Amino acid sequence: MEGKWSVYFQNPEFIEQTRMSMALPEYKPLIRKWCGIRDGAEVLDVGCGTGYFARLLAGGDEDVTVTGIDRDDIFIDYAKRKASEESLDIDFVLGDALHLPFEDNSFDVVGSHTFLTSMPDPKGAFDEMKRVVRPGGIIASVTSMSFYPPGISLGIYPEECDVWKKEMDTLLIRLTRAYMKIDPISERASGVAPAAVPHFFAEQGMERVSAYPVGHMVSVSNAAMPVEDKVRWIELYRESEIKKLDAFMELPEMSEMFSPEEAVRYRELLDRKCDFLLSDLTENRIWDWRGNANLLVTGIKPVE
Ligand SMILES: C[S@@+](CC[C@H](N)C(=O)[O-])C[C@H]1O[C@@H](n2cnc3c(N)ncnc32)[C@H](O)[C@@H]1O
Repeated sequence: MEGKWSVYFQNPEFIEQTRMSMALPEYKPLIRKWCGIRDGAEVLDVGCGTGYFARLLAGGDEDVTVTGIDRDDIFIDYAKRKASEESLDIDFVLGDALHLPFEDNSFDVVGSHTFLTSMPDPKGAFDEMKRVVRPGGIIASVTSMSFYPPGISLGIYPEECDVWKKEMDTLLIRLTRAYMKIDPISERASGVAPAAVPHFFAEQGMERVSAYPVGHMVSVSNAAMPVEDKVRWIELYRESEIKKLDAFMELPEMSEMFSPEEAVRYRELLDRKCDFLLSDLTENRIWDWRGNANLLVTGIKPVE
């Protein structure tokens, strides 16, 4: 994969919005524990993107030093801003995972989040992760196995929404098909298959390879989700859809598949949908959901 992830695949707002559904707050202390986060630990997040995982690892009670590295400057700038907004002291560095600018054996924990599963050269990246982690230290990788069941992914809405919802879904399907012709998904799924990550860790010589399930589901009708998170999710969804649409419409190939008039109409309908969602966040009304079954895989670098 060449080029910028933030421009071609997922812009920073989109990635943050999808990350909201990555781990329930209750899981976060467990994730830190399973990754070996403890007082004094020096931690690296490889392919950190907007810094979601680095913030999760730095966000507990433990006194840790966290560094994030990514080759995409748009993500690094965003990650710095976001961490400072949350008063987290994380060092975000622009650099290549295949040539980590760190000494051998310099971290206690080297993590990555949905990185090995999208990296065309996962072995090259893993060799580097293994080089910079101390003997007895932990390499941790979260993989995402998103699920969007057809039929449900477009949402179950009250009858009063039928007219605008059907029009919007038709446009969304056309838009998605057009985009998939330009950006085949295979480009984004070029690393280790999610289910194969534990085996991959073992093949790379890691010891005590362990796998933990961490999942979450977002729905504006889900009683398990705090109302302020629902509102934030909807606003981020609106913002990221508009950014994606604008970026798609700038591609010369799009004009033959999705007209500017359709784009204007899609934006109107998107506003209508978001306003409707915000108008009623009560339970059991709208089941428009997105789920993630994540796997956290950890392994220990052998002490020679
Ligand atoms: C699926 S995104 C995951 C981002 C982030 N870890 C998260 O979960 O939100 C994959 C990330 O890997 C980064 N990446 C891909 N190849 C890289 C390389 N050779 N060196 C550094 N970063 C790389 C991309 O820029 C992108 O931010």
